[in-house]
Amino acid sequence: MKLIIIGTGSRGRVYARLAQEYGAKIVAVADPNEEHLLIFADKFNIPKNGLYKSWEEVFAVEKFADAVIVSTPDRVHYGPAMAALEKGYHVLLEKPMSPVEQECRNMVEKSREKDLIFMVCHVLRYAPFYEKLKEIIEEGRIGQIINLQHTENVAYWHFAHSFVRGIFRNEAVSSPWILAKSCHDLDIITYLMDKKCKSVISKGNLMHFKKENSPEGAPEYCLDKCPHEKTCQYFAPALYLKQITNVTWPSDVISVDTSFASRFEALKKGPYGRCVYRCDNDMVDHQSAIFEMEDGSTATFNMIGFSSENTRTIRIYGTKGDIRAHQEKNEIEIHDFLTGRKELVEIDKSAIRSSHGGGDERLLKDFLDSVSGKPSEKRTSASNSLQSHLMAFAAEKSRKEGRTVEIYY
Ligand SMILES: NC(=O)c1ccc[n+]([C@@H]2O[C@H](COP(=O)([O-])OP(=O)(O)OC[C@H]3O[C@@H](n4cnc5c(N)ncnc54)[C@H](O)[C@@H]3O)[C@@H](O)[C@H]2O)c1
Repeated sequence: MKLIIIGTGSRGRVYARLAQEYGAKIVAVADPNEEHLLIFADKFNIPKNGLYKSWEEVFAVEKFADAVIVSTPDRVHYGPAMAALEKGYHVLLEKPMSPVEQECRNMVEKSREKDLIFMVCHVLRYAPFYEKLKEIIEEGRIGQIINLQHTENVAYWHFAHSFVRGIFRNEAVSSPWILAKSCHDLDIITYLMDKKCKSVISKGNLMHFKKENSPEGAPEYCLDKCPHEKTCQYFAPALYLKQITNVTWPSDVISVDTSFASRFEALKKGPYGRCVYRCDNDMVDHQSAIFEMEDGSTATFNMIGFSSENTRTIRIYGTKGDIRAHQEKNEIEIHDFLTGRKELVEIDKSAIRSSHGGGDERLLKDFLDSVSGKPSEKRTSASNSLQSHLMAFAAEKSRKEGRTVEIYY
């Protein structure tokens, strides 16, 4: 199996490692960031003639691989994915599909027209935790679902890293939070409820990470002798310089060279060293939405950037029982109304060896299997993923326009 990877950043590296473990050969990679490209080429032994500065160059030549993984920033998904489909490649595309609704629809249409495998990286569908939840629901253990409450608890430091200082801080460079991050959550809602969404109403705003909340005397960069070093939980050196060796996410994102000296330099004038109250961010820091499904059931969704935990919590209310589930703890509690019995299901964590609760590796394996003609589920086909994207576009429209928005498929 020959693969091309467009975008050699954090996600590109995850898929490259897993793909090679599964025996796929990465024959070409594209990235305008030369430093990223060369480090990636060295790490994964990519031949020199397989290095491209842009995705346009890759698709300008005749098809030379089986499939393409697109792991570029949100606003660079549509171009390479459409070009790859047009050229006849099967495609695995990072989420969100695109920040533009019509582009999401166009890509699905193109993959149908060309009869190609087109999957989106909704990795959670492949995590054993969500698989178990789905199994419990399909067994009828709680009867018909009446309401599902899903909360995306984003830890305060994660929110500051990604949505205030980092690459998702601004709608113009990324996409609205409910799409950028929570298309995963909306995908899980449709996956578990197995119903299409009819309409949505949503509220939310950017309340905290604004200049007017900046503590007195806080400089633009934390390292410029911020007087609030000891009292601010967002003080950048405390978040990014704790590790000396074995540097992990998110500290390994702030500079390509992860040595202490380079990370220190990166904080002096780089985006991750900025005061969280003085960034060019416009992402909401909390948002809620109520979705009405086609059978009249409802899903309520909350996303909050002020949590101590970094996890998703779910409650599902059915006609015969209810479920409380905690993703990080890998725990699912089922209550049966008739017998009063309570069962705690714990997911075996020992087999989980990639992020997103083991979803990364299993999604990639399913994609590679389907491309090579082996039995596969294609659980995250782009047409399935389109539903969560339409829910996100509608929720954002509702939040901005202050009204209920209907969804058309
Ligand atoms: N499935 C998930 O759970 C998950 C998790 C994190 C991120 N993501 C998504 O993955 C995508 C990539 O995120 P990341 O964290 O790897 O970002 P990143 O910044 O680490 O990597 C993106 C890479 O794309 C490169 N790039 C930019 N423009 C390009 C172009 N025109 N052609 C080729 N390469 C180009 C950048 O130089 C960079 O190396 C984003 O869309 C993000 O939303 C998905």
